[in-house]
Amino acid sequence: MSPAEFAREIEKRRTFAIISHPDAGKTTLTEKLLLFGGAIQLAGTVKSRKAARYATSDWMELEKQRGISVTSSVMQFPYKNSIINLLDTPGHADFSEDTYRTLTAVDSALMVIDSAKGVEERTIKLMEVCRLRNTPILTFINKLDREGRDPIELLDEIEQVLQIRCAPVTWPIGMGKRFKGIFHLNRNSIHLFSPTHGGKVKSGEQIQGLDNPRLDELLDGQAEELREEIELVKGASHPFDKEAFLGGEQTPVFFGSAMNNFGVEELLDVYEDYAPPPQARETVTRRVAPEEPKFSGFVFKIQANMDPQHRDRIAFLRVCSGSYQKGMKLRHVRLGREVQIANALTFMAGEREQAETACPGDIIGLHNHGTIQIGDTFTQGEDLQFTGIPHFAPELFRRVRLKDPLRMKALLKGLQQLSEEGATQLFRPLVGNDLILGAVGVLQFDVVAHRLKHEYGVDCGYENVQVVTARWVSCDDPKRLEEFRTKAAAQLALDGAGDLTYLAPTRVNLDLTMERWPEVTFHAIREHA
Ligand code: G4P
Repeated sequence: MSPAEFAREIEKRRTFAIISHPDAGKTTLTEKLLLFGGAIQLAGTVKSRKAARYATSDWMELEKQRGISVTSSVMQFPYKNSIINLLDTPGHADFSEDTYRTLTAVDSALMVIDSAKGVEERTIKLMEVCRLRNTPILTFINKLDREGRDPIELLDEIEQVLQIRCAPVTWPIGMGKRFKGIFHLNRNSIHLFSPTHGGKVKSGEQIQGLDNPRLDELLDGQAEELREEIELVKGASHPFDKEAFLGGEQTPVFFGSAMNNFGVEELLDVYEDYAPPPQARETVTRRVAPEEPKFSGFVFKIQANMDPQHRDRIAFLRVCSGSYQKGMKLRHVRLGREVQIANALTFMAGEREQAETACPGDIIGLHNHGTIQIGDTFTQGEDLQFTGIPHFAPELFRRVRLKDPLRMKALLKGLQQLSEEGATQLFRPLVGNDLILGAVGVLQFDVVAHRLKHEYGVDCGYENVQVVTARWVSCDDPKRLEEFRTKAAAQLALDGAGDLTYLAPTRVNLDLTMERWPEVTFHAIREHA
């Protein structure tokens, strides 16, 4: 690839994730986006793909029973002049850690809001995470085919609660039974609504100009209503400002109905025009620009047994600079080792294929035989370490009780792998032989027990344990750290990566310990290093 071609490839990439509260329509919208990208022929495929996967995996069976989506996947598809990498994120709150890490691998995010419900709890949390990196956000207000809340009120709520300015790009004409379509503020055109549940990409008449008499013919009294409302909206809302959008301060807003595939194309067009291509990324030592010729990337997710037939583990790596070429040698920085990567995967609409090349913004899957951890950096020689891939201090803890003591080795292997993958956090106290699991959501424990049984053949139960929170500890003075290690040994453990962690029996105890050891730092978030 010549440097000019390489620059064009980077410019084409749009890497993003959809964030939303469960049920707002993320899955439905994903499906429509894939449809526009030509990645799937018929709507319904995402759901049936899900169903097909359930059939082959016990782990998926759990998802089905619970009616939640646990895994996150990656899909790449072309749209007009772009190559889109869509990173799916688990919807359930108990799997938020996974979602947070996925958000470190995107350049922008699409927020989906249910027009009847407005801003919901999970949307707020996810926005907080996006804000850590000022990720640009686009907003899609969904389900306009149903009675919902007043659109102006919705925008107010987004501005107030999420602290981001709204710039409507499209505006709804009525809602529910009176939903007639959307007005495109930038194009000054109207797209009339026609319900489509099937796989059609385009539908509904387009009318140019708000003053067009055709509007009065088709909309009766609603045409005048619309003109007045647009007048008002234009006066009261912010015009789109690309700088502010790229800085995460303003969000362009779209209205539509994902289920009816309506308003989605308008969204994708703007996505292509405005959403940022791959951005520079911070490392401990310097900023890495995507157009640098040498390859670099970081692992943001590890998923075990995606294909139960192969019992493999895949590390998802975001390419940050340079390009991947099949068979190339890369440096696994944490281990200080060169590895040849012959069989990385790409994820075309969820189908795995061998990757020949990959560019900045793309996600590749590396086969992991237990050596790769979340946060690991791969480069073409330089010792870089990307920052900002978080581990959150768990708030829930259980002691693992093994039913068959002879399965100890298998249990340890399973827990080690599941903790590398981020399904749970494993702590091994310095004193005694306990295995303590930490989680952010209680459902994680069920998933781990289920997977230990079905993937590792280990039956285990849980016992309560007196731990309320964990803090990763560090200290500049090694002597003082050693003293702390000895004095507080009863409360100290090593986590899955071998880092020293303080397991606090009560909040009061944590406060007192922190006071007593001012030289020691207690971290609530651990960045992978
Ligand atoms: P999620 O991934 O964010 O959790 O949401 P999902 O797409 O699964 O959508 C949640 C529910 O909302 C689904 O209904 C879906 O059909 C419905 N939905 C999505 N977009 C629209 C829309 O534009 N209009 C209306 N009226 N409904 C929409 P469900 O009954 O839970 O599932 P299903 O039986 O329809 O599959």
